[in-house]
Amino acid sequence: MNLNNVRLLVSAVSPRQYPQNNLPDIALAGRSNVGKSSLINRLLGRKSLARVSSSPGKTATINFYEIDEVFNLVDLPGYGFAKVSKAEKAKWGEMIETYLAGRENLSAVILLVDMRHRPTADDCTMLDWIRSSGFAPLVVATKSDKLKKSQREDALSLICETLGIESAIPFSSEKGEGKEEVWDMINKIINQS
Ligand code: GTP
Ligand code: MG
Repeated sequence: MNLNNVRLLVSAVSPRQYPQNNLPDIALAGRSNVGKSSLINRLLGRKSLARVSSSPGKTATINFYEIDEVFNLVDLPGYGFAKVSKAEKAKWGEMIETYLAGRENLSAVILLVDMRHRPTADDCTMLDWIRSSGFAPLVVATKSDKLKKSQREDALSLICETLGIESAIPFSSEKGEGKEEVWDMINKIINQS
């Protein structure tokens, strides 16, 4: 992949809007504000392809990015944001569930968690779903630049223990840490699908 052909195909709210390009989907899931859209921009080397905002709840649709006609990178709406209305929460939850349960192209779901915090109950639920659907539990720990060196090991241990996983990739959209590791992960998924 040379990333010369990267584009937003569609911002979907319902399955009939999903792209039918027969490419494998790699979806990014995680709490609102965890850094899903920022990770996409960093991975693809584009400053503002995916919309980023300091106010949570920025991505309210399922955004499909087609990458070099090899795969779709899918930016899911964030969950767990307290300040959106109940109705809106229910709508987003349904949107995410409909996608996860029904999308045949789905090849992997990468869960993003904030490296500074213990994963939430919602994060655990998401990872349980990933496992029970037969996908590998892939976890990226975002905002690694916000931790001191001395805090990193404990932070990663807490994430791994809470989620019951072997390892998580520390990632910083700000500094670029973890970019290669996430690309390795993506390439493995593509080679297996
Ligand atoms: P929703 O679309 O609401 O689900 O959020 P999101 O997960 O897409 O998060 P987004 O990428 O919009 O980032 C949220 C905020 O966190 C923005 O202010 C980003 O600049 C900031 N941010 C994201 N990643 C990093 C990171 O690695 N380091 C630092 N320091 N800030 C980050
Ligand atoms: Mg977003």
